[in-house]
Amino acid sequence: MGREVVRLALDAGLDVIVLSRRPPSGTSPVHHDGARYFRADVTTSAGLAEALQGADVVIDCLEGQFGKARKNFADGGARLLAAAAGAGVRKAVLLSIINCDRSNAAFYVSKADKERVYALSALETVVVRATQFHSLVTAVFQAGAKVRLIPVFKGARFQTISPSDVASELLAEALGEPSAERHRTRTIGGPDIRTMRELAGIWRKATGHAGRIVEVPLPGEMGKYLRNGLNLVPSQRTGTDTFESWLAKREDSL
Ligand SMILES: NC(=O)c1ccc[n+]([C@@H]2O[C@H](COP(=O)([O-])OP(=O)(O)OC[C@H]3O[C@@H](n4cnc5c(N)ncnc54)[C@H](OP(=O)(O)O)[C@@H]3O)[C@@H](O)[C@H]2O)c1
Repeated sequence: MGREVVRLALDAGLDVIVLSRRPPSGTSPVHHDGARYFRADVTTSAGLAEALQGADVVIDCLEGQFGKARKNFADGGARLLAAAAGAGVRKAVLLSIINCDRSNAAFYVSKADKERVYALSALETVVVRATQFHSLVTAVFQAGAKVRLIPVFKGARFQTISPSDVASELLAEALGEPSAERHRTRTIGGPDIRTMRELAGIWRKATGHAGRIVEVPLPGEMGKYLRNGLNLVPSQRTGTDTFESWLAKREDSL
């Protein structure tokens, strides 16, 4: 997602600083000419002050899915915000996940913890909660297709959204006029709500995979979150890039 934000921001003529632990080399296919890359780590604060020098707005697309990275996720946000405040940044926009505060799954709890860090910051902050990305469901299909099965979670529906639609919302929030509200949260979703089985059918048709679609139960908190439809926001069909149109553009999803 970070790369997509960088691409759109450069297209918009903005001066872009990219911060990560392993910045790509100039010859890497994921390197964007025109962006300035800095090595920095939010778990230690190393490199943060230097990277944030002169920045007006921070867009946080960090991830910390497992183990220590997940435990450190919210604190990493606090370190980033502290360094941003020190560098005179005026606003920070956080990408988060829809209804993460309504699940006890450890991954979602870490997201909600980080949202609270943003809400308490002295900076102006905006949390943009997105529904699941198109690439999330294709990753599940791709993994199963290796053994000619296309798994779909029983009772799950999705309102998947494309990275470019999410990136444009993040950028719009970053560039918006200063708000009277110090902290805001908004939720954005993809254009369509579909069962996972329908998405699997579309993916199979688009890719030509011969795999059989199989329904599997998803136990635990994540299963509960999906079955309760907490991943859906029917009133906010913000994205315009459908699953089909996104697939048609993405050779690597096929
Ligand atoms: N997948 C979905 O369906 C979905 C839906 C809604 C929201 N989201 C959220 O959107 C966010 C972005 O997702 P994504 O898929 O783009 O994640 P991603 O591909 O894993 O990218 C995470 C980025 O964080 C950087 N990073 C990780 N730890 C770092 C650290 N300690 N210091 C500095 N940089 C660090 C990584 O770069 P280096 O490794 O080079 O450091 C990488 O650039 C996540 O918070 C995710 O949960 C995802």
